[in-house]
Parts: sequence; structure tokens; C-alpha cells
Amino acid sequence: MSDNFLDKVYAARSAEETRTIYDAWAASYEAEVGANGYATPGRCAAALASCCNDLTPPILDFGCGTGLSGLAFSLAGFTTVDGIDVSHEMLAQAKSKSVYRKLTQVSADASLDEGAYSLIAAIGVIGAGAAPVSALDRLMHALPKDGKLVFSFNDHTLEDPVHEARINEWTDCGAARLLLRERGPHLPGLGMQSNVYVLEKK
Ligand SMILES: C[S@@+](CC[C@H](N)C(=O)[O-])C[C@H]1O[C@@H](n2cnc3c(N)ncnc32)[C@H](O)[C@@H]1O
Repeated sequence: MSDNFLDKVYAARSAEETRTIYDAWAASYEAEVGANGYATPGRCAAALASCCNDLTPPILDFGCGTGLSGLAFSLAGFTTVDGIDVSHEMLAQAKSKSVYRKLTQVSADASLDEGAYSLIAAIGVIGAGAAPVSALDRLMHALPKDGKLVFSFNDHTLEDPVHEARINEWTDCGAARLLLRERGPHLPGLGMQSNVYVLEKK
């Protein structure tokens, strides 16, 4: 395995292979995405903050990785962030940051406590190279009424229309309202963009 993971992480693979690749990437993840200007965590945190009057409810950071997402929420003024991830090694990196109240390793299709969090984030997690689109349903089902999910789809993920179609399934039937959809930089060093979304459960 070379030190460059961004050229191979987006290929489709099993949940077990995904966990293995993130375990192997953990030590060099921040250096590699940082060198390419990883912008999506800050954009997601700002997007969620713009949709919330109160920044004190705990956020569940699904696929928290090394903690760049938790750091972005903390910098945006959110007070309490809990992280979950499939990768033990990514979580070990996150632990070294003092931004999380709680960090937990979970299985790829772990059931989530319904109503436990009114704010959930999935930053760089759903789509090519990470969790399948069904994770969007699991996270939406876990939210209480009026709860909010902030998440991103990068350009690789957006190539498969199934991802944005799943958002429409939630909004078209009135089960959720799209509060925000914003296109912007993801990894500008690689010329990649992402869409950031905030969905509110109805
Ligand atoms: C590209 S990283 C993003 C990490 C962090 N959110 C960030 O923005 O830096 C994707 C993370 O999702 C995790 N992941 C992949 N599939 C997952 C699943 N089914 N459930 C929970 N975490 C998952 C990986 O282990 C990895 O840490």
C-alpha cells in the first residue's frame, strides 16, 4: 500500500475492505487531505450552524474519521460532539483531539438509537469509497421530528444519480425538507468539489 490513498479510496469495495483501507490510511489521512485543501468539514459545520438557533444540542458525527469534522463543528461554535466510526485507527487519531465527548467504534450497519441526537453529521462518509447510500436512510430514521442531518456528496459520489435520488425520496413525500444545498470546494488541490446538504426531518 503506497502513502497515497486518494487515488484508490473511491473504488467500490465491501464494508470490511473499507474498514481496512481507513485503518491503513489513518496515520497519513490528515496530511494527504490537508495538502489538497480539504474544505468540506468547515463548509458542513457552517451550513449546519446557519440552520440552527441553538448550537448546544449534541451532534452525532457519523464516520468521524480522525476528527477533522468534530474540529470543524467545535470551531463553528457547537459545544458537544460524539463520534462513531468503523475504523479503530481513525478513531485513535480522533481521540488525540480533545473535541469529542465520546468516541465509539461501530460495525458498518450498526443500528442507531432513534431520537438520541437531534443533529447528525455525515461528512465525506456517504458514497464512493465509504458508506452506501442506505446510510442516509439509517441516519434520517434515527433523527427525531425537526432533527437535522448535514452531509456531503463529493464529485465521485454525484456521478451515480442514486445518491441525490435518495434525497428526493425523502423530500418528495414530505418526510423531510431540504434546508440547504450548496456546491463548493471539496479537495481543491485535486479540482474536486462537493455538495453540502442540510435535511430536516418532518
Ligand atoms: C473520508 S473519511 C471522512 C472522515 C471525517 N468525517 C472527515 O470529514 O475527515 C470517511 C470515514 O467514514 C468511515 N466509514 C466508512 N463507512 C462507514 C460506516 N458504514 N459507518 C461508519 N463509519 C464509516 C471511515 O472509516 C472513515 O473514517
